Amino acid sequence: MNILNRYTLITGGTEGIGLELAKLFAADKHNLIIVARNEDKLEDIKVEFEKEYKITVEIIPTDLCVDKFCEKIINVVEEKKIIVDNLINNAGIGSFGFFAESEEGFEAKLININIIALTTLTKYFLKGMIKRGNGGILNVASTAAFTSGPKMSMYYSSKAYVLSLTEAIHDEVKSLGIRVSCLCPGPVKTSFQESAGIKKSEKAKKYLMDANRVAKEAYLGFIKGKTIIIPGYKNKLLILGNKLIPRVLSRKIILKNNS
Ligand SMILES: NC(=O)c1ccc[n+]([C@@H]2O[C@H](COP(=O)([O-])OP(=O)(O)OC[C@H]3O[C@@H](n4cnc5c(N)ncnc54)[C@H](OP(=O)(O)O)[C@@H]3O)[C@@H](O)[C@H]2O)c1
Repeated sequence: MNILNRYTLITGGTEGIGLELAKLFAADKHNLIIVARNEDKLEDIKVEFEKEYKITVEIIPTDLCVDKFCEKIINVVEEKKIIVDNLINNAGIGSFGFFAESEEGFEAKLININIIALTTLTKYFLKGMIKRGNGGILNVASTAAFTSGPKMSMYYSSKAYVLSLTEAIHDEVKSLGIRVSCLCPGPVKTSFQESAGIKKSEKAKKYLMDANRVAKEAYLGFIKGKTIIIPGYKNKLLILGNKLIPRVLSRKIILKNNS
C-alpha cells in the first residue's frame, strides 16, 4: 500500500545492488528517497520510477564521503515531514592495493561513507522507528566482513564494522518489532569492482553474481527479519569454510588471490 509520507531511503540507489533494491521496494509500492552524487541520474530514475511504479520519489544529491553529508539528508526528511520506514545503507567504496600506498586522504573518504554515514543514518532513523514500534534497516557489508583482507585492508575492516554493528543492533531492537539485517554479498557484477581498481581474470568474472539476484535474496531475507543475508550457496560455503580455518590461513589465501 502506498501510504503518503512513508518512505524507504536508499543510499547509492542509482546503480548496482542499490538500484535493484530500489526497484523491488518500488514494485511493493514503497515511496523512495534515493541518495547518490550524480544528479542527472537521480532525476532520470525519479521520472522513470514515478511513471512505472506510481510512487513518489525524492532525490537527494549528496557526496557521502564528505563531512556534513548526513545533515542534508536529515534536513530534507525533517522539512518534508517524511517518515522513513526502511533505511538501506547501501553506498560504499573500496580500493585495491597496499594500505601504505593508497591515495592520500582516501582513508577519510572510505571511513566517512562506509562507517560514519552508515552509523549516523542508522542511529537517527532507528530512534524514530523505536518510537513508532516498526521499521527496518538493511546495512550492506560484504563477505569481506568475515576476515581480514591484505591489499584491501580498509575495505575489509570497514565491512567487519558494519557486520558487527548491525548484528548487535539487530539483537537490541528485535523485540521492539524492528528488523535490522546485514547483507553480505560476495563479488557482484557492478561498477564497484572497476571503481575499486579490482582486476578480475576472465575465469573469476564468471563467478560474479548478478545484482538483481543479490537484491532479490536481500529483499526476501530482510522481509523475513534475518540477521545476516549471504546471497548464493557458493558464498555461504565460502563463509562456512572460512570459519573452519585459522585466520592466518584465510589472510594468506586472500593475499595470494590479490597478488
Ligand atoms: N559489487 C561487489 O562486488 C560488492 C560485493 C560485496 C559488497 N558490495 C557492497 O555493495 C554496496 C553497493 O555496491 P555496488 O557494487 O552496487 O556499487 P555500484 O554499482 O558502484 O553503485 C554505487 C552506488 O553508490 C553511489 N555512490 C558511490 N559513491 C558515493 C558517494 N560518495 N556518495 C553517495 N553515493 C555514492 C553511486 O552513485 P553516484 O556515483 O552517483 O554517487 C551508486 O548509486 C557497497 O557498499 C559495496 O561495498 C559490493
